[in-house]
Amino acid sequence: MLSRLLLLSIGGVFILLIVDQCSGKRKWDYEPLSIETYSTDDSKLKMVAKVDRVGRGEYAISANIEFKYTPDDTTMVEASAYRSSSGDENDYKIIPLSIPKQPYIEFMNNHYKDVVLPNLGGCSNLVQFEDKFEPPWPQNTYMLDKCVANSDGFPDIIPEGYYKVNFTMMNPVDWGFILIVKITTKLI
Ligand SMILES: *[C@@H]1O[C@H](CO)[C@@H](O)[C@H](O)[C@H]1NC(C)=O
Repeated sequence: MLSRLLLLSIGGVFILLIVDQCSGKRKWDYEPLSIETYSTDDSKLKMVAKVDRVGRGEYAISANIEFKYTPDDTTMVEASAYRSSSGDENDYKIIPLSIPKQPYIEFMNNHYKDVVLPNLGGCSNLVQFEDKFEPPWPQNTYMLDKCVANSDGFPDIIPEGYYKVNFTMMNPVDWGFILIVKITTKLI
């Protein structure tokens, strides 16, 4: 079994995290509840994001990321995940689904390629590549237009609850987002 963390994210960045790839049918539904963004320098990176209801029980994430700097060898990516069974802020406990702090090029050739692009490549203008990522990451305004993750790269079973993911890119500006998603078991 292949264990990995997945986050739906954006190459610049984005998110959902997860693990254990199987080939059966997904037995869970997800509902993004909120997404909050942050940046230590809006002149280098400005991100706005929102969750839209696009149908009965269907939610999509839209985002706009103004990438006005060029990530370099010192740019790192990190993501942490937390779970709460009640949704209460005090109940969130860290869970071992995360992206350990790593150089962004490493992130591009792993999580970005395996999880971000399969889930968000079709609803965004994120940089696409087949084999290996060739730096530099281009400065541009990246847009996610009502993205609904198709759950490629996610496990068949995820325990019910509230999941919080904090995705960060560091140096020369620290920015990222915090996404809260509610997972429920599918009614058959
Ligand atoms: C998100 O992660 C960054 C980098 O590790 C950290 O500085 C920040 O405090 C975290 N925010 C939350 C709400 O956990």
